[in-house]
Amino acid sequence: MNEQKVALVTGAATGIGKACAEALATRGFIIAANYRSRREEAEQMLTTLDGTGHQLFQADVSEPEQASRLVDEVVSSLGRIDVLVNAAGQFTNQTIDGDMFSQWQQSWQHSMALNLMGPVNLAFLAAQSMIKRGSGRIINITSRGAFRGEPTAPAYGAAKSALNSATQSLAQALGPKGICVYAVAPGWTETPAASPRIRAQGWDGVAAQSPLGRIGRPDEIGSVVAFLASDNAEYLTGAIIDANGASYLRN
Ligand SMILES: NC(=O)c1ccc[n+]([C@@H]2O[C@H](COP(=O)([O-])OP(=O)(O)OC[C@H]3O[C@@H](n4cnc5c(N)ncnc54)[C@H](OP(=O)(O)O)[C@@H]3O)[C@@H](O)[C@H]2O)c1
Repeated sequence: MNEQKVALVTGAATGIGKACAEALATRGFIIAANYRSRREEAEQMLTTLDGTGHQLFQADVSEPEQASRLVDEVVSSLGRIDVLVNAAGQFTNQTIDGDMFSQWQQSWQHSMALNLMGPVNLAFLAAQSMIKRGSGRIINITSRGAFRGEPTAPAYGAAKSALNSATQSLAQALGPKGICVYAVAPGWTETPAASPRIRAQGWDGVAAQSPLGRIGRPDEIGSVVAFLASDNAEYLTGAIIDANGASYLRN
């Protein structure tokens, strides 16, 4: 049995997931790096990680059977899951006054399956082995959009809001088992998925939403996740950490 801690990071080939994998590898975790379709980027990412023993695991986490297979494969290959980082997610544009009803249905189902059900299914599956060991960390990447409204992506905002709520419920359910559960809610972060949307809105205007006058970097989210995965963050369980450069302040 491997005694080094194992972190399963979903959507680890790019963006925030990749930055979380990098930050956790630097702190001594073995990374189980999940990707869906970006095999080459995932292989390249793996070569840049500090340490050894990291492995790739292909799965579409929006599919429950694939999520289940993913957890089984990680536990069978690496022996354990100490930390689960649910980073895979996607912003899907919707137009309530333009979409066909069939499109509306499909985009709600896809967004809920990926942004909400994927993370909670993986939380359930990973928690089973964490419960046996009496320790673990589950970290969900949600979004500022859960709080401020997403007029062009209501399903995304709703899914992230529900994931924040599930985070807090699971923190209460799993605390007695020694498992801590957190959410990190980024604002605009410069990633392959977000950068074209930021450019389309006007980079300077988006940067000006923050009093820092800039857009967030993936490594800044990775650092927060690495801290939450550490032994020092236990009493923060149930927290939703805003990482949005004060661009949106909630009460
Ligand atoms: N960047 C931002 O401004 C921002 C702000 C708030 C929240 N977030 C959240 O941060 C997380 C990461 O976003 P990002 O900006 O880093 O996006 P990204 O660069 O597109 O990364 C998302 C990753 O998730 C993977 N993925 C998508 N669907 C998947 C599935 N069904 N199964 C497994 N992997 C899947 C993608 O791989 P494939 O392309 O191969 O599917 C991709 O590698 C998301 O949850 C997003 O909602 C981002």
